[in-house]
Amino acid sequence: METQALRYAVIGAGGIAHYHLNDILAKPGVTLVGIADPADPKHWRVPALHQTVPRFTDAEIMLRETRPDLVSICTPNKFHHPCTLLALRHGAHVTCEKPLALTVAEAEAMESARAAAGKLGGINFSYRNNAAFRFARELIASGELGRLLRVNTVYLQSFLGAPATPHTWRNDATLAGFGALGDLGVHMIDGVWFLTGLVYRRVVGLAQTLIPEKTDAGGILRPVTTDTNATWLAELTGGVVATFETTQIAPGYGNFFRIEISGERGTLAVHSDFPEDIWLRAGATLTKYATWKTDVPQQKLPTDFIGRGAPATPGAIVHAIRGEKVDYPTFADGLRAQRVLGAILDSMQSGAWQAVN
Ligand SMILES: NC(=O)c1ccc[n+]([C@@H]2O[C@H](COP(=O)([O-])OP(=O)(O)OC[C@H]3O[C@@H](n4cnc5c(N)ncnc54)[C@H](O)[C@@H]3O)[C@@H](O)[C@H]2O)c1
Repeated sequence: METQALRYAVIGAGGIAHYHLNDILAKPGVTLVGIADPADPKHWRVPALHQTVPRFTDAEIMLRETRPDLVSICTPNKFHHPCTLLALRHGAHVTCEKPLALTVAEAEAMESARAAAGKLGGINFSYRNNAAFRFARELIASGELGRLLRVNTVYLQSFLGAPATPHTWRNDATLAGFGALGDLGVHMIDGVWFLTGLVYRRVVGLAQTLIPEKTDAGGILRPVTTDTNATWLAELTGGVVATFETTQIAPGYGNFFRIEISGERGTLAVHSDFPEDIWLRAGATLTKYATWKTDVPQQKLPTDFIGRGAPATPGAIVHAIRGEKVDYPTFADGLRAQRVLGAILDSMQSGAWQAVN
């Protein structure tokens, strides 16, 4: 059967665009027809390989002139909503960066517009590509841990604490919406849901901005209006309690994302730095070691599992557009996570538990 040709375009030519371009252009039959970004193209971070592709500083003109079938939205968070609506209006499927939007209302509008247009929407919850996360999900679904009892997750970075790190859009609440909470926390929220399938019932959280100002690339001192630290508790289906902590200023941590889950028959943990490893003591191994007291050991995933399955994001949507059955994070997943983010923000303002609707 002939592969359906797809015209592909990117809005936002910064750091993450690279990742979208690599993954999506690796699919056969996909042609890059345009890239749009309002910044001077000499500052774009697009690989030299794509230098000859038509460049636009206006996304609408690009969409009108190049008529793409699929568009990646790789802009700062504030523009996910308007750029998605624009791409859908021009008849394209969309794969968008995370978090889906700044507010629940925007995320709902994006999902409604997608459904009305009859197009597909993906979100780059990139940890779903991690083999250990997928393995843990299968283990839990197979009942290996028994009834789930507790969840703990941390996502720690240090980059913002470094004096040399300049103030960027990520530190401006009007452009980013959130600091660590939306940037890292949204991966934690989706990660726990992806691994356990447990639904968020209610949340309570606290955030802090521990670095109040930073100098931007032009040497101007700017306020940091986003959170640098966020901590929250969630009650999941069946009363399971999950604890979360994230920060962008923990010295010594580059990108440390760990989820640990205990059930009645075992404990497992996954870690972003070890996509081929799992920490697991479960099921028969408890009997084998004849104790409930040993530490949870780090061990390799089965080798046949590691190579199984292509990355789900951002490129699996290409297969879905072609009618193949693929599991990839969609706008509905982005909206689910946005509702949790929204409830955490509300609880941070009110100081009380907030139901997740
Ligand atoms: N999935 C992940 O793990 C992951 C990792 C990194 C970044 N991201 C997400 O990717 C998005 C972009 O992050 P980044 O690190 O590439 O940022 P970046 O600052 O490197 O790049 C952003 C680019 O968007 C451009 N831009 C600004 N306004 C625009 C507009 N209105 N239309 C088009 N382009 C516009 C900027 O000029 C810049 O080139 C963010 O939403 C971020 O959360 C996700």
